[in-house]
Amino acid sequence: MSEVYVGMSADLIHPGHLNILNEASKLGNVTVGLLTDKAIASYKRLPYLKYDQRKVILENLKSVNKVIPQETLDYRPNLEKLRPDFVVHGDDWKEGIQKNTRQQVLDTLDKWNGKLIEVPYTEGISSTQLSKALKEIGTTPDIRRARLRRLIQSKKIVRIIEAHNGLTGLIVENINVEVNGEIREFDGMWASSLTDSTSMGKPDIEAVDITSRVNNINNLVEVTTKPIIFDGDTGGKIEHFVFTVRTLERLGVSAVIIEDKIGLKKNSLFGTDVQQFQDSIEDFSKKIEAGRAARITDDFMVIARIESLILKAGMEDALKRAKAYIEAGADAIMIHSKEKSPNEILEFCHKYQKFDRKVPIIAVPSSYNTITEDELADAGVNVVIYANQLLRSAYPAMLDTAKSILTHRRSYESRDNCISIKEILELIPGTK
Ligand code: SPV
Ligand code: MG
Repeated sequence: MSEVYVGMSADLIHPGHLNILNEASKLGNVTVGLLTDKAIASYKRLPYLKYDQRKVILENLKSVNKVIPQETLDYRPNLEKLRPDFVVHGDDWKEGIQKNTRQQVLDTLDKWNGKLIEVPYTEGISSTQLSKALKEIGTTPDIRRARLRRLIQSKKIVRIIEAHNGLTGLIVENINVEVNGEIREFDGMWASSLTDSTSMGKPDIEAVDITSRVNNINNLVEVTTKPIIFDGDTGGKIEHFVFTVRTLERLGVSAVIIEDKIGLKKNSLFGTDVQQFQDSIEDFSKKIEAGRAARITDDFMVIARIESLILKAGMEDALKRAKAYIEAGADAIMIHSKEKSPNEILEFCHKYQKFDRKVPIIAVPSSYNTITEDELADAGVNVVIYANQLLRSAYPAMLDTAKSILTHRRSYESRDNCISIKEILELIPGTK
């Protein structure tokens, strides 16, 4: 009996997949190399179904004899191990990101005279179409909430950007770019206190109450499916924070980040230019513990934000607090800095790697904005948050337009600054 190898993601199984597997089973014993979440997330969005769920589906198909993990996009490690007589794949990988992979498969099979069999692409159905349809259906709070932890487990670095209303939520949800065949998109949204407050014309001092902030979340969940991390400021009083946790969790928010400050909170990027006070380790630990105790699911994350570097309390204090907050149960640590250089963040990450007990690290490179995602990931950062860039870029454009209309007493001169009327009418589905 010949041995046949089929590599697949098998997230949304459709007749195209079944056709490939049926053709493969005509040639011999079929082993599916099922791409792990990590392998898939290395070049496109995380699959809807987890590895174990995808595995059990495949194992129950009559054309499949065995399912093994394929840990990379690269087929070669599994092929070298199994030395199959045939590899079967759809014929749609001759161009694009998989072109290289295909050549590697051909070269490897050559070593033992194996053959690549390419099955004609099934027209009329594709995972991309199904994925789009799923987005339109929406998601549930449970699925959305759990997604952040899955992303952290599967991706080299999780990419989050600020969204302060439905429109910015839609940008985060839908925008992608293709770079060298890799589809890049944002993984989720940051409900920033700075941009939530600023877009309401209020200062970032916890003046916008939780109910208004939650209204913003409602606007986001209505039109998006990606996970949300909520900027919880100081978390307020412990007795109040537990209600915030419950509210956010119920809405499907994945995490709340609270910062270890007390009293009137000012934005961290002021640093020591304004009076700000850091909470005691003991009291802040109690807040983390209370938040953790209040949540219903393990999926919801209570994340501790350390302000020692912002407040010039020193690296040792930052590290001491990280240890204490992890002890208190923090599901992740956010370390913040307002330096132009990433050095202190990199030093923190380097020293943090020596901890016995570690949780994921989050960085917010607003001021040290030359650092790349790869550099952050190499330092051990798990999540990067672009905390304010959408609002900061929209504001100058709006100012320009307002000034142009005042100057010229008509809007003609500002037209190139604006999307067309046709575009704005078509921007939101259902407007017509
Ligand atoms: C926010 O986006 O509101 C933050 C990050 O908390 S920072 O503005 O840098 O404090
Ligand atoms: Mg904030």
